[in-house]
Amino acid sequence: MRSSDFSYFSAMFSGKKVLIGISGSIAAYKIVHLVRLLVKEGAEVKVVMTHAAKDFVSPLTLSTLSKNEVLSDLFEADSWANHVALGRWADLLLVAPLSCNTLAKMANGLCDNLLLATYLSATCPVMVAPAMDEDMWHHPTTRENLGRLAAHGCHVLPVAHGELASGLIGEGRMAQPEAILEAIHAFLITAQDFNGKKVLITAGPTYEAIDPVRFIGNHSSGKMGYALAKEFQRRGAAVTVVSGPVSLPALPAPIETVKVQSAGEMYAACMEHAATYDIAVMAAAVADFTPGAIAPEKIKKSGAALTLNLEPTKDILATLGNQKRDGQVLIGFALETNNEEANARQKLERKNADAIVLNSLNDTGAGFGKATNKITILIKDGQTYFFETKTKEAVATDIANTVLKLIP
Ligand code: CTP
Repeated sequence: MRSSDFSYFSAMFSGKKVLIGISGSIAAYKIVHLVRLLVKEGAEVKVVMTHAAKDFVSPLTLSTLSKNEVLSDLFEADSWANHVALGRWADLLLVAPLSCNTLAKMANGLCDNLLLATYLSATCPVMVAPAMDEDMWHHPTTRENLGRLAAHGCHVLPVAHGELASGLIGEGRMAQPEAILEAIHAFLITAQDFNGKKVLITAGPTYEAIDPVRFIGNHSSGKMGYALAKEFQRRGAAVTVVSGPVSLPALPAPIETVKVQSAGEMYAACMEHAATYDIAVMAAAVADFTPGAIAPEKIKKSGAALTLNLEPTKDILATLGNQKRDGQVLIGFALETNNEEANARQKLERKNADAIVLNSLNDTGAGFGKATNKITILIKDGQTYFFETKTKEAVATDIANTVLKLIP
């Protein structure tokens, strides 16, 4: 697509916020044109750049075109550049050009400049446009590093074939600004494949009160459910999250978050959406048992053993499965420690789900509180999909892509 092809969109990126991270590569000069195109299409653009990038393009040009201050240092003129706020501000962080050096640092979690700190703290999706000479592009370390970024959920844009800074002809050129613009367009605007869908997600643990100060809980962090919420919302869905107690940052609007404590409250909140959801993903670790009665006062120790009378909670997934109408897609989770697939398939049938996302506690990189997960998705029709260990954001993409295939 040529830039002129965007003219009929008229401010197609209106309201979208793009943060561009420029690293040191001759291709940095092309970003001037990209910033111009984005701003012309209504995007708000901010730029962070490494010091090496300043050898190739002037911050003054970029700040003039973006109409925003260009930042490079974690500390400037006695003030701290808030990389956390930058990552939260943006709908997309684009690192372009991505030099070999910045790639290696990103893949390994190094944090010695503002661009890297922003990348590590970014909660928005990340896209990268690599730029390097052909031999560097094909080096096994580069391949490994790019693989790691992709596994961490980054969207890696393809490089172009053509004349390189070395004078050689080959692969490694950064994608042209128009191609990057098209990729951003596809990512932020076109990829609205859940447009008009109502998605209900449960997330986190539940706390079952024993007395005014104690509860029975579990180690669920809520990260998986929250990553799913952001993924479905980014792709156009109207998302409601029924969340147990978690210590994650609040989900941004327009995601609706209903905070609950107990399995009973989570059940009640979900039932309000039972008739109206199109897709429900039950990612919460719901307590299976709850104290039959909550002691009105703090239970004192008497020296004797204490017996708690626990009663079963209502199964939200099974209830939604029972009431499922045509067209609704219902996804459950299963955390298993043994006979994983057989147990998960039984769960799928028993609860009348359309698919079950299985995590095994036996897999390193999967489980409570971790930033990564390794899943297997079992589908009602008997198919099973296996996935590698990935960040929970990348897992959310895999789950959403699978759900898409299940929508009638
Ligand atoms: N689930 C639910 N309501 C409950 C319990 C579980 O909605 N009261 C959902 C979970 O959110 C998850 C799925 O059911 O999507 C499986 O949860 P899990 O605890 O693995 O299943 P259980 O039926 O409790 O089976 P198990 O005996 O293995 O604990």
